[in-house]
Amino acid sequence: MPKVTYIEHDGTVHTVEAELGSTVMETALRNDVPSIVAECGGGCTCATCHVYVDEAWLEKTGAPSEQEETELDAAFDVRPNSRLSCQIKVTEDLDGLVVRTPSYQGR
Ligand code: FES
Repeated sequence: MPKVTYIEHDGTVHTVEAELGSTVMETALRNDVPSIVAECGGGCTCATCHVYVDEAWLEKTGAPSEQEETELDAAFDVRPNSRLSCQIKVTEDLDGLVVRTPSYQGR
């Protein structure tokens, strides 16, 4: 199974196994990563699953859709590597993916 690493703003690292076909957001919730909230449950309407994709993974995760871009416009502290984790599907190619979570987001 591919592994995904989440790094919280305080440096806490969570490296977890992800099911193929699930999203980076679903993987975080399943593994109790506390800084992914996902209020809308993956509908791309809340931006509480905001992550910063590690630079080395930007090409593989691809570009956000138009809807995701619109939602990100309303998020805080958006950066060029910002993504909504509910819109990133786990594939074999993403084995080793590293994302960071914003300081304002948490449960
Ligand atoms: S879970 Fe709501 S936008 Fe991703």
